[in-house]
Formats: sequence, structure tokens, C-alpha cells
Amino acid sequence: MADGAQGTAWWLKGNFAPVEKEVEAFDLKVTGALPPELSGVFMRTGPNPAREPSPHWFLGDGMIHGVRLEKGNARWYRNRYVETPLRRNAVTTRDPSVFMDKTASTANTNIVRHAGRILALEEAHFPYEIDGELKTKGCVDFDGRLKTALTAHPKICPETGEMLAFGYAFMPPFLTYHRFDREGRLAQSEEIPVGGPTMIHDFGVTRTRVIFMDLPIVFDMASAMAGGMPYKWSEEYQARLGIMPRNGTAKDLKWFSIPSCYIFHPLNAYDDGDAVILDVARYEKMWVKGFDAPAHLHRFRLDLKTGIAKGEDIDDLPVEFPRIREDRAGLKHRYGYAITTHEDDEAGFNLGTRIVKFDVDKGEATIAELGKGRAPSETVFAKAGKGEDDGYLMSIAYDAARNASDFIVLDAKDLAKGPVATVALPQRVPFGFHAAWFAD
Ligand SMILES: [Fe+2]
Repeated sequence: MADGAQGTAWWLKGNFAPVEKEVEAFDLKVTGALPPELSGVFMRTGPNPAREPSPHWFLGDGMIHGVRLEKGNARWYRNRYVETPLRRNAVTTRDPSVFMDKTASTANTNIVRHAGRILALEEAHFPYEIDGELKTKGCVDFDGRLKTALTAHPKICPETGEMLAFGYAFMPPFLTYHRFDREGRLAQSEEIPVGGPTMIHDFGVTRTRVIFMDLPIVFDMASAMAGGMPYKWSEEYQARLGIMPRNGTAKDLKWFSIPSCYIFHPLNAYDDGDAVILDVARYEKMWVKGFDAPAHLHRFRLDLKTGIAKGEDIDDLPVEFPRIREDRAGLKHRYGYAITTHEDDEAGFNLGTRIVKFDVDKGEATIAELGKGRAPSETVFAKAGKGEDDGYLMSIAYDAARNASDFIVLDAKDLAKGPVATVALPQRVPFGFHAAWFAD
């Protein structure tokens, strides 16, 4: 499928367009110096429609791009589809039956590592296990115990090793909480009552609690039957955040009504005495026309004693894909990282040219400006020491002038100086969703 040849939708044009080939290349040229302490695999996943134009950016077949680092060398790049029935067989995301078959995943949204397994995830189906060289091993249903789809955004507790997650669906039960033990066994599933079949992309986790986001993007049967994105913005649906102890049940839930908004991604959440702090990338609205307006970094303070929820923007940069240092997940954070959006905005959600480091204690942001036409994908933190920002940021950046992509590494303590290492990749990497760094 040639770039842009199959349609004019923005997610099929420019650097949103899929690539045609699975390729690999070894011992890539490094400009600058890769930090020798970084050994592992960087992965970035996203939709890459294989056989036909996808009806929505979110609905293309999952393709993972990987870069292997070893002792200062870039050993390989490769890109591979996640081999699911959706990718292999006649069924497509336009077919409503894909909502009934939990193995029919695009697996295009996120990759996480838990209990020795790397999982490629999408939120309407079961995850797929892949190996460190991007080969698909198979569908994971947790010994038949998982009865719902699994979110693409499980959270791994750096203290207990548990994986906390949920599944949502357009038929009851609309929301189910799942807690996996450190060995990867499904230890608890709890039905969570919500006001309707909302799209719940992600959630918050603290040391002791989970936070569900029941927000006004609601299932729409007509859209589903038409084969498009089956969820729509609702002016009526009450936005709520629900807090529950991590080992709790629905009777322990406490709901907070909040002003209407949509949130794909929290940055992080943590306990603050009787309150929970939840930092997110918050949109005023979503999908009234498209990605109508950018998200801003926003802090909710949810007071369990008084029942009062307060929220305010803590920065005005247009951002998405907020990330923290993963071993601070659920703990108080000072730093967060994100990329800018809505610049050079032909696509409606074209990505920006900046990587941002937020210091939420100081209320400051420092920026790596990659330059005109150079757009980073989600940026992940690779730790190099104990200090919260003692490490590196990794991303794949598209360069419009060359119609090519680079793997870049930045020093998290000094973003403004730009990449410390740049690795030109052997093929363009389309804009996609989430990234991960799996250190050896
Ligand atoms: Fe996401």
C-alpha cells in the first residue's frame, strides 16, 4: 500500500501512512554516542493497516518497531506485525464480529513487560505475547481466567510487582477490575458499576488505590454497525472518577463528579494522605469533530474525606503521551515527560516537534525542540541512576525533509541540548501510539 494512495483520511497520509514491508537491519550507524549503560530493546507500536485502509486511526493492524541497544551500539532495527487472526484472516475491523471474538485484536496500542512476558495490547481484546525480537508467540488469556478484554494500559507496581488492570465492554459488565500477582496470575476480578458503556482507555494507580475514569465518550451502536469507531462524545453523560482500594471491591468505591472532559492518559497518580493526586493529559472535549483541541497537563486532587474533587491545568503546552520514570509509578513524582501536539496541524492531530520535561514541583517545563518537520513519537524514560531524572529519554522522530525516521536518545537532565545519540533507521516509522524500553 503506497503512502496516501488508498484514501485521503489523515491517518493514511504523510507519516501516518502505513509502511509496506517488514525489514531488518543490523549494526546501525550512530551519530553522537549511545550511553553504554543502556542495553535492551526499545519498542514502539502503532496501527499499520495491512490489507485495506482502516476506518479510523485507532483501527489498523498492530506493527511494532524495535531497536536493540547493546553497550553503546545499535545492534538492530526491525519492524513486525503482531500476528493475530485479524492480521491473518479475512475478518477486518469493519466487521462487527471482531467485537465478539476476544482473540481478534489489532494489538496496536501498547507493549508492557510483566512476569517475564512482553504483551502487545489493544483494549477491546486479549493481549498477545511477543518475544524480544518482535516475534508473536500467541494470545494470552491467563489460563482461561480472563473473561473480559484487557486494557492496553495495565500498571505494574514497582513495589509489589503486581500488574493492575481492567477491561471495558459495550455490553455488561461495562467495567471489570483485574489484579495480577507478580507471577502473572490473575488473582482478582471485580465488576465495577458505571453509568453506561463508556470508552475507558487508561486508569490511575497509587500505592494503595486505583482510579477509574468514567468519562463521556459512550458506545454508539449505529457507528459500530457502520464499521467505524463505535464510541461518541455525549453532552449528557456525567464525567466521574472512581477511587477503590487496590484489593477492594465495588462496595469500597468512592465516585467524584467532575466537569465534562476526556482523558486518554494519566501521567501518574499517588496517595497524599486522605487525598489522591491524579495528573493527566486532559481534553475539554473529544471527537465532537475530531481531535478538536489539544490536551493540557492537569492535576486532580480527590479528597476522600470531604468528597471534594478539584482540578486545574498545571501547564498550557499542547501535549499527549505523558510518561514518568516507570519505577516511580504510583509514587509521588516530580518529573513527567510528554510530546507536543497540534502544531503544523493539517492532520487535526499532527504531532508536534517538541519533547517536554515537566517539573511539577517547580511548575516549570524544559523543552527539546527537534526542529521544523521533525516530530517525535511517545518518549520513554530509561533509568541510569537513582535520581528521579537520572536517565535518558528515547523516542523515534520523523524527519519530513527526508521522509525518514531516527531513533533518538536525550539526557533527561539536559533536554535543551538535544539528542545525545541519533540512529537513522532503515525505513520510515509511521506515527503510532505507545513505546517501551525493556532493559536487559
Ligand atoms: Fe494509550
